[in-house]
Amino acid sequence: MEIFTQSAALKTQAAAWKKAGETIALVPTMGYLHEGHLSLIRLARQNGDRVVVSIFVNPTQFSPTEDLDQYPRDFARDAQLCQQEGVDAIFHPAPEEMYAPDFSCWVQEESLSQTLCGAFRPIHFRGVCTVCLKLFHLSLADVAVFGMKDAQQLLVIQRMVRDLDVPIRILPAPLVREEDGLARSSRNKYLSPEERIRALALSRGLRLAGEAFRQGERDAQRLTGLVRQELEAVQAEKIDYVELMDRSTLRPAKDATGHTLLAVAAYIGKTRLIDNLFLDDATPRP
Ligand code: PAF
Repeated sequence: MEIFTQSAALKTQAAAWKKAGETIALVPTMGYLHEGHLSLIRLARQNGDRVVVSIFVNPTQFSPTEDLDQYPRDFARDAQLCQQEGVDAIFHPAPEEMYAPDFSCWVQEESLSQTLCGAFRPIHFRGVCTVCLKLFHLSLADVAVFGMKDAQQLLVIQRMVRDLDVPIRILPAPLVREEDGLARSSRNKYLSPEERIRALALSRGLRLAGEAFRQGERDAQRLTGLVRQELEAVQAEKIDYVELMDRSTLRPAKDATGHTLLAVAAYIGKTRLIDNLFLDDATPRP
């Protein structure tokens, strides 16, 4: 496995693979890899001859009040996990390698990124789109894998790729949960044992809403209410949103008739957690 810290070296290797007729699958990450990331890497393995994992805590997607400095990092462990998964190359640039001192070009998606997390993290998706476009260019990837836990990120990236004619296929990967239901996230590391238990309110609320949906409940207020109740019961420090959204526009849906996304973001202690559930009423039934 190669470890590249320089963009030019990654590009040279990627070009050599392409010249040899090999396809490249990229897994963009911010490191501190967990089982969720490993599932993305395994999906990448099935969809490309070569797998590149980028490990870069991207400063431009954090606003000054967010957790950029505390964001967990353990490159040695990440590299070992990548090696075990048969990754061909890690791209681990320093921020200065990605952003020139006079960097001044940004990719701004202007619709899907305005709601949910985008409403609370104004520069977040501009940073995500910009860094992902750069990673797509540098890795010459044919395919990039994105987890469905960050459902809004996935949709925003798909829109960027469509609107800017980026020659890459975006492959969604299912959300991975801990055994007790908590969605896997590098930020789970911040949770104290007591907060870890309270954090289960997110997935429990979504599960209850999913059960209600299966029993015929379609009303947005009642479905989101089930999630809110759970968060309130554990005294979540702050609820950023519990929203039922249309899945193609990410605008609020009055009811869950169609392709909808039930999404939640809440603080447990100082940790901001997100989770979601796709509620699909539009798939023809057998
Ligand atoms: O999902 C993440 O870890 C990041 O937003 C990404 C896609 C690696 C861009 O920095």
